[in-house]
Amino acid sequence: MINELSGKQAGQVDKSRLPRHIAIIMDGNGRWAKKRGLPRTAGHKAGAETFRKIATYCKNLGVEYLTVYAFSTENWKRSETEVGAIMALLRRYLLEAIDSMERDSIRLKFFGDMTAIPPELRSLARETDEITEHLGRDAFQANICLNYGGRDELLRAARRFAADCTAGLRKPEELDEAVFSGYLDSAGVPDPELIIRPSGELRLSNFLLWQCAYSEFYYTDTLWPDFDEAEIDRAVAAYQKRDRRFGGVK
Ligand code: FPP
Repeated sequence: MINELSGKQAGQVDKSRLPRHIAIIMDGNGRWAKKRGLPRTAGHKAGAETFRKIATYCKNLGVEYLTVYAFSTENWKRSETEVGAIMALLRRYLLEAIDSMERDSIRLKFFGDMTAIPPELRSLARETDEITEHLGRDAFQANICLNYGGRDELLRAARRFAADCTAGLRKPEELDEAVFSGYLDSAGVPDPELIIRPSGELRLSNFLLWQCAYSEFYYTDTLWPDFDEAEIDRAVAAYQKRDRRFGGVK
């Protein structure tokens, strides 16, 4: 049992000290389905519903950014049926988002290498990108990691910087952390203060490798489809109890 806090105090959130950015590894969909004798795809369907619920909750709570790991660069190893089902759920979500993001004031961004994504999904992502550009910077932003790997993101950023050097737009000696961050998929997004992994796994799995340098981690046994608003409260309350020193002393 790795749930960090229990009892009455567990989920008491101080709204004046919220993390600006929460990132979540949406794990446990397959096990959730198996426990119910359902196909793995049913777990992903339930997981997509949980994402909708948690994004709405984070927005209403006052969190500014939510980043979720939907499909990794390694997830292509799964069966064609499972990959197809995840892509179909994303397609459905994007179609809904195109209709509602302006009304609900939700910005949507994708992190990952979109070149390998099915063309229809890619063009829907371009549409949501355009809507996002029209929405003010103060709107809540959801980032969906799709064909994403932390190492791959670092390599793509390094290649883009090198290409800019070759083109005479940059000099190698100009490279510092701020400049490099601007080449990442997460350019302009503050690093996540809190990373949550449900389902009892204690790994980072190639998620936000650069951005997690000073993130606080929160693990829970709850499987992603069962994850709810109270779990977010517990994770935020645990984060608020942490002593963050950033390598210094207090
Ligand atoms: C990990 O659980 C989950 C995934 C690889 C897919 C997550 C995708 C979704 C929830 C759908 C995305 C849709 C939207 C709208 C964002 P797992 O399958 O590895 O679970 P297991 O470890 O129990 O097998």
